[in-house]
Amino acid sequence: MKLFEELFNREPLPLFLAPMEAVTDAPFRKICKRFGADVVISEFISSEALIRDVSESVNKMSFSDDERPVGIQIFGHNESSLREAAEIAAAQNPDFIDINWGCPVKKVVSKGAGSAILKDPEKMVRLTKSVVEAVKLPVTVKTRLGWEATDKPIVQIAEALQDIGIQAIAIHGRTRSQMYSGEADWTLIGEVKNNPRMHIPVIGNGDINSPEKAADYKKRYGVDAVMIGRAAIGNPWIFKQIRDFEQGRGYNIPDYSERVEVCLEHLQAEAAAKGDRRAVLEMRKHYAGYFKAIPYFKETKLKLMEALSVEEIFAAFRS
Ligand SMILES: Cc1cc2nc3c(=O)[nH]c(=O)nc-3n(C[C@H](O)[C@H](O)[C@H](O)COP(=O)(O)O)c2cc1C
Repeated sequence: MKLFEELFNREPLPLFLAPMEAVTDAPFRKICKRFGADVVISEFISSEALIRDVSESVNKMSFSDDERPVGIQIFGHNESSLREAAEIAAAQNPDFIDINWGCPVKKVVSKGAGSAILKDPEKMVRLTKSVVEAVKLPVTVKTRLGWEATDKPIVQIAEALQDIGIQAIAIHGRTRSQMYSGEADWTLIGEVKNNPRMHIPVIGNGDINSPEKAADYKKRYGVDAVMIGRAAIGNPWIFKQIRDFEQGRGYNIPDYSERVEVCLEHLQAEAAAKGDRRAVLEMRKHYAGYFKAIPYFKETKLKLMEALSVEEIFAAFRS
């Protein structure tokens, strides 16, 4: 309770790094934190896998104290599994447990988890309640507007979830059918926030990709915080840029040498955490962000994308 009271009752309002599978692992979260992300959340973790003690999933719960406040995000479709997984996650002592009711991916929704629950708001409320009751930590929810364009029950759902005790809600302004296409619609996020019955923090998410847009959307829709996903991939500087802009300062675009430095630091931290091979593969998602708009970068980028070892990546920057 105290955490969210403190976080949301101060200026400037907090910036969230969105949970992203195979992106927001501990090394990247730490870098984002250093560049001004206030709150970070783990990648989504399967409740069934946690219960079966699958090491890959268990490892995803790891975080260090310098990441705090940090949430562990779980997903699932079965009430007792979700509850048990929440207890397992809570034993790691994060600052909060986040439930993923927004994932649009087929293998998740086909089982009734992620955004599929939006087709059954009663079940969504029942399962969430059971997690709220199972753990002493604050529970938050991350979700979408609804399943499809003709069914966007987010205003009622947010109220019902608030009533059973969640402490904040993050809303991605798309339906499941939209996946990631089109533009995020923030008007319904604004409606949730401006519903006079709502008193928990509402975190807006979707398409925030510049300091100007973050400031504009925060003001226009009145949300308590913004959450940034894709625009942070390979671009942890975005958090500091948003802060600087918000406080009336100009913001810096990092130069090439800073980008290389942070990218290599990121790579090395990934290698230390997951081994060279995996680090090299997972870093491929980040290069477009790290080296966006760098002129004459094509050849180096090709080398980075083809590299199979950490040494080859270092070499690509030397050549
Ligand atoms: C590669 C990738 C992985 C994602 N994984 C998760 C996840 O594990 N949990 C989750 O709640 N959302 C996940 N999302 C959704 C994001 O958290 C976010 O809601 C979405 O990208 C919209 O925000 P943005 O426009 O700022 O990227 C993922 C998105 C991307 C692009």
